[in-house]
This record gives sequence, C-alpha cells and structure tokens, in this order.
Amino acid sequence: MNVLLLNGPNLNLLGEREPEVYGATTLPQLEAQMAARAVELKIALRSFQSNHEGALIDRLHEERRWAQGVIFNPGAYTHTSYALRDAIAGTRLRVVEVHLSDLARREAFRQVNVLEGVVAHRIQGKGVAGYLEALEWLVAHCAS
Ligand code: DQA
Repeated sequence: MNVLLLNGPNLNLLGEREPEVYGATTLPQLEAQMAARAVELKIALRSFQSNHEGALIDRLHEERRWAQGVIFNPGAYTHTSYALRDAIAGTRLRVVEVHLSDLARREAFRQVNVLEGVVAHRIQGKGVAGYLEALEWLVAHCAS
C-alpha cells in the first residue's frame, strides 16, 4: 500500500510551537517514527509538509494515482479551506484527518471543520500516537 503523509501550516515548528498543546516531538522525529512503522507494515510512505494551501493541493493532485491513503493534518486550514475540501473530494483520495490536540476542547473557531463529510476518518487529541493509529486504520480499511 502507498500512503502520503501530509502536514499543513505551522507543523514544521512542532517541538517548539506551543509544546504544552502539541507536544515535544519535532516534525522530522514524527516523520521518522512514521517511516519506521510503515516499513514494518510494508507500506510505501511519502512525507510532505507545507505552509501553503496551494502546495498542499498540488501534492494531493500529484499523488492521487499513487496513494491508496493519505494521513493529513491540515492545521488551521481544517477550519477554513474549501479549496482543500474540494481537492479531497475531487481526487477521491481516502484521507484520515489527524489532529495532535483535541479540537472539541479548544476555541470556538476550531469547532468549525470544513472537511467534515469528505474525510474517511478523523483522529484527534492523541498526539503523535494519532498518526500511528491512522496508519493502522488505513491498513485495516484499504483493500490493497
Ligand atoms: C491542529 C489543530 C488546528 O486547530 C491548529 O490550527 C493546528 C494544529 C492539531 O494538530 O491539533 O495547526 O491541526
């Protein structure tokens, strides 16, 4: 199985960005943990992070025939980006949306999720473990 790991804006600062909310693990450490687990699960994993909406959309388009699944933390675009919503719907990619923090326990603007209905599954509030759980979820829910 081929999986794209996609991280959106400000997630390049993981480890130093509000560690009390998002934890101490850096993005390279997170990507390394995911790569190691992917090897164990015989998954081909590509990782990409961008602070730019269009770059995230381009990557979804580019990988739409390669990837059987996507693990995507869209950051604050979760709450605002109809363009990303359209990209997920338009590519028909099976997307597991991951959030390190528990959005249900945070500010009112984070209760708005414009990706509702186009993602296959959502995991939130589990920190880095949520990304690993997303990989397991894709294994369990993808035919090949
Ligand atoms: C986040 C939650 C978003 O609301 C926030 O804008 C982020 C990170 C999370 O992983 O908890 O950048 O997606």
